[in-house]
Amino acid sequence: MSVPSIIDVLNSQFGINGRLHFELGEGELPIARMTTDEATAVLSIYAGHVLSFVPHGSEDLLWVSQEAVYQSGKAIRGGIPVIWPWFGPHPTDSTKSSHGFARRQMWSVKASILDESGQVSLTLGLTENESTKAVWSHDFDLELSVTVGHVLTVQLKTTNSDDVPFAYTAALHTYYNISHISNVVISGLENSAYLDNLDSLSQHQQTGFVRFEEEVDRIYIDTTAPCHIEDIGHKRTIVVEKSGSRSTVVWNPWIEKAQRMSDFGDSEYQEMVCVETANAGNEIMTLEPGETAVMTLTVHENRHPDLQEEEH
Ligand code: BG6
Repeated sequence: MSVPSIIDVLNSQFGINGRLHFELGEGELPIARMTTDEATAVLSIYAGHVLSFVPHGSEDLLWVSQEAVYQSGKAIRGGIPVIWPWFGPHPTDSTKSSHGFARRQMWSVKASILDESGQVSLTLGLTENESTKAVWSHDFDLELSVTVGHVLTVQLKTTNSDDVPFAYTAALHTYYNISHISNVVISGLENSAYLDNLDSLSQHQQTGFVRFEEEVDRIYIDTTAPCHIEDIGHKRTIVVEKSGSRSTVVWNPWIEKAQRMSDFGDSEYQEMVCVETANAGNEIMTLEPGETAVMTLTVHENRHPDLQEEEH
């Protein structure tokens, strides 16, 4: 008798007929395809990484680079990378990879559910192993639950399973699919303070909506506000809501940084914007042994079929 493949095992343990199916995706890495009456989504088990969320009859809300690399040990450019346990460069050791290690690990599948309202959820887990211990000494228990319905809900639960307290920063580093960066404004951050990554993290104040005419790389601090990504070209507003998060990162690499990134097309900065649900910058989380913190992102679109596109 032949040995069943990992995909066969996942489908028999967690597959849901017509709703949730595992297969090998790009780079032969396992993915889950989730389908409901309202939307489809794709979740990579490698990296615990949502790659796609498409409400039926609409465009993907998420963006993934044409140049993305799908390889164990590498981060995938686009979708929703899980940034954990440090956001940005490591605070004290520049030899460690940026944005932590969760986005470069194989996660495990813990549970799947089709609920009464027809939503499908999949829960993944990640705990310490030899390679995480080599860069971060703590025991931890991460759980990522992705629920697909009219709204996409992504919940990251961090539990300290060590016997000493630990501190961390984190983000659901979401790349949104937009018609063109000049068509987009972001509301929800008016009057918020931000740390400008392009000005040595010095503090500035937002006035009005966020618009893009150059590289933007900011950690908005002390904000729990929802953000609206108004996209006149796709005739929709992407509504980003959150809980358990006190920072929002807004990033677009613009021309030169796009050229410097090998897994990002030179003109792709026009098609994406990151609005990241985070605890980063001044928002450092501390957990006592046995304690848990939950950060949740919900995303949906409001369509505006009558909007007129402007020239850019
Ligand atoms: C953003 C940071 O969150 O992620 C940027 O604010 C960074 O400074 C970007 O360039 C992408 O990071 P990476 O490690 O995926 O190239």
